[in-house]
Amino acid sequence: MATVTVGAVRERAPGERRVALVPEAVPLLVRAGIDVLVETGAGSGAWFADAEYTAAGATVVPPDELYARADAVLCVAPPDPETAGALRAGQTLIGLLEPLRHPELVAELTGRGVRTVSLDLLPRTLSRAQSMDALTSQATIAGYKAALLAADSYDRFFPMLTTAAGTMRPAQVLVLGAGVAGLQTIATARRLGAVVSAYDVRPASRGEVESLGARFLDVQSPQNEEPDTERGGYARELTTGEQDAQRAALDTHIARSDVVVTTAQVPGRKPPLLVTSAVLERMRPGSVVLDLAASDLGGNVENSEPDKTTVLAGGVTVIGAGRLPSAMATAASTAYARNLVALLRHLAPDGELVLDPDDEITGALMGGETS
Ligand code: NAI
Repeated sequence: MATVTVGAVRERAPGERRVALVPEAVPLLVRAGIDVLVETGAGSGAWFADAEYTAAGATVVPPDELYARADAVLCVAPPDPETAGALRAGQTLIGLLEPLRHPELVAELTGRGVRTVSLDLLPRTLSRAQSMDALTSQATIAGYKAALLAADSYDRFFPMLTTAAGTMRPAQVLVLGAGVAGLQTIATARRLGAVVSAYDVRPASRGEVESLGARFLDVQSPQNEEPDTERGGYARELTTGEQDAQRAALDTHIARSDVVVTTAQVPGRKPPLLVTSAVLERMRPGSVVLDLAASDLGGNVENSEPDKTTVLAGGVTVIGAGRLPSAMATAASTAYARNLVALLRHLAPDGELVLDPDDEITGALMGGETS
């Protein structure tokens, strides 16, 4: 007999096509003693029909009924004010709530007695948490799609092609930021035949870049001598002087590249500016720069705007691509739902939701309530 009910809402952010649960996840939850509600039409953006959820064992309900019955409300992106306002005391909201970027949302919900579980706060280096790592699953998708989008916008081939009419040289692709997304961009661009080089401020990424057949740029890194283990593997924000030195060293490499994909982020901070307008002017016409870090906080590329493609006067195409997981909504939702199933099995091992702040994973995920 199930004691906990979860409900996946329809995402309401403009352009957001992902959904927190996909039909294949439903029987896994039901088997774990969890009742599943899904809001009417929740899966349509990712090509999942209401009937598929019903066939899988979920109950498809209108939003009012979902908010009335669900113990835990499942979302992908942070909820809009209307959804947040519909949550009640005692309920738990689970999703990528971005508490570092929107601390006011979590504070408001907590103030009203709504519990928040922010998947972005997962202790990612814990091996037993890796199946719940939604940041990784979504960044993998963004990195893959970034390479495809950049190739699609580039008016030459990525691979070297030898034809009767002669040989075409391969594209020179530079990836700045070689975390989860950047490594996937490297792998995908390599599979398309490009010659790829990459750079990351974390020296630990050199081996990963090279293992994918890309060249790691020998740019002096201020973090070269610093272990990054204390920050859970994350980069730290560089000082202004360090950023200037890094840009000066990278500019020549950027100007020479046909395609640049930037993915550099520092959690909770403005993304570092890596590609300035001055270096964009030095790039050849027809070059493509894709900024995966583009958001309302700014991006890695000067003047890039999220969800906007601009062709500059010098013929360089700048793509602000801050929301790529949603552009591959079916794969992104499927991976995210698997992360949620693993999380819910952890939070409700016996079909009952237990939010233990002393548990290493649960406590971290609820950390947004106190930050
Ligand atoms: P992220 O999305 O926060 O950042 C992307 C990349 O940008 C990072 O590799 C970061 O070092 C780099 N970056 C930041 N500032 C930069 C700058 N000024 N110049 C160049 N690069 C810069 O990071 P992501 O991809 O979410 O994860 C980062 C790292 O966290 C991973 O590579 C890994 O070491 C660790 N991690 C470990 C996991 C595990 O142990 N299972 C799972 C996921 C991440």
